Amino acid sequence: MSSPAATELECIVIYWLGEMIMLPKSFLFKGNGGGVLQGTTCEAILCTLAAARDQMLNRYGSEKMEKLVVYGFDQTHSALQKAVQIAGIHTKNFQAIKTMKSNSFGLCPNSLRDAVHADVKAGLVPLFLCTTVGTTSTNAIDPIGPLCEVAKDFNI
Ligand SMILES: Cc1ncc(COP(=O)(O)O)c(C=O)c1O
Repeated sequence: MSSPAATELECIVIYWLGEMIMLPKSFLFKGNGGGVLQGTTCEAILCTLAAARDQMLNRYGSEKMEKLVVYGFDQTHSALQKAVQIAGIHTKNFQAIKTMKSNSFGLCPNSLRDAVHADVKAGLVPLFLCTTVGTTSTNAIDPIGPLCEVAKDFNI
């Protein structure tokens, strides 16, 4: 809105970059994907969380704000918890799901499903899941595909 020409240029450059690193078409603007440049990972997490929050509140009403739940795991970078606080999500609604050495500290889809299920039963609204490919402390890699299936089932 504030600078359409710069935004256009940013979109084009991001598209070039996506092609250069051979991302699948679905990640690119021409395939309903696309992205923007952010200064840091912390900033990127906060922006995506704020966008998800606003989309959910527009859909279900602002009175749901206190019910929104964000999921990470015990290996997630502290950037997520920081974003949760800045985005005004109740800190008690930040769920750091436990991981196990037997799963190489990746987030187990069944653990996520159990946690989300319990929250829905308690009247909470699952909002956002942060997964990681290569955590800072243990280099854990989350099984993104199966986790996305759980997220889809609960409209996260
Ligand atoms: C997995 C992960 N997430 C988030 C961050 C935070 O990154 P930034 O300092 O770019 O905000 C880091 C930084 O090391 C990281 O390793």
